Amino acid sequence: MLARLRLLVTRRWPDQVERSLGEQFDVTLNDGDEPMSQAALAAAMGEYDVLCPTVSDRIDADVIAGGERVKLIANYGVGFDHIAVDAARAKGIAVTNTPGVLTDATADIAMTLLLMAARRAGEGERELRAGNWTGWRPTHLIGSALKGKVLGCVGFGRIGIATARRAHHGFGMNIAYYARRPAEADIAGELQAEFCPDLDDLLGKADFLSLHVPGGADTANLIDARALAAMKPGSYLINTARGGVVDHDALAQALRSGQLAGAGLDVYPAEPQVPPYLLDLENVVLLPHLGSANAETRIAMGMRALANVQAFANGADLPDRIA
Ligand code: DGY
Repeated sequence: MLARLRLLVTRRWPDQVERSLGEQFDVTLNDGDEPMSQAALAAAMGEYDVLCPTVSDRIDADVIAGGERVKLIANYGVGFDHIAVDAARAKGIAVTNTPGVLTDATADIAMTLLLMAARRAGEGERELRAGNWTGWRPTHLIGSALKGKVLGCVGFGRIGIATARRAHHGFGMNIAYYARRPAEADIAGELQAEFCPDLDDLLGKADFLSLHVPGGADTANLIDARALAAMKPGSYLINTARGGVVDHDALAQALRSGQLAGAGLDVYPAEPQVPPYLLDLENVVLLPHLGSANAETRIAMGMRALANVQAFANGADLPDRIA
């Protein structure tokens, strides 16, 4: 009988996925769910056949250089800007992710942030919990309507489209988007979505701008001081993509000056740190990277990672191969 593959799972995964992994492979779990150090991750490269990290692990070139045994990095999550994919490829290490299964959950969180920012829900809850609510009045915590407003999606892949569907069909918003190429005709038709090949064009027309591009060098600080100044005055920024896409110093300035009416953020450049100056601003909603955090989605992500490991074990094509 062939020896079972040795797997390292760097964080706790849903119980049923951990059980399935354990039935099929020689798995080391992280029962304490403490983040692993860079040194421990590097050492793991020499001790396991498969590394199963998450977005909270930095699998940089030094980690990848740490050992010769790992031949598959099966990431639990769709984004992979935390993995030095080129370094992995150069060493012949395959890398997979979990696309598709977290589309709806992430679009739901984008809408949560959009609604919370537009309707000042965070401010209201803080006021009430602090015992400062003095009662209903016509001028209290006035927010923005959504119907007839323009949702501008930066990036129009699966999650951008799912967010646009919710906004258009559920809330009567008009959709515009910036992407490398126009959407398929049926999707563009269904959403009556306007394609903006020029980002500045979108920035100038969106009442709500929602980010749906991958992280990494290509999109670093895409929304910088210049882009924020080009946004429609009094508009809102929603980010469920990656923190590095936004210059947070410039964002805070735009929120203080009123150039932006509000923002909703689920992701930050150096998680779990949150730029401290954002904590003092009432007009930003701050969530702790909850995009995919529902039970069904987290199980589906684990099962998708498992499917990639199984394919690898069987010498089959990897369903979600990135490298
Ligand atoms: C991902 O999968 O990349 C998400 O950010 C984690 O929810």
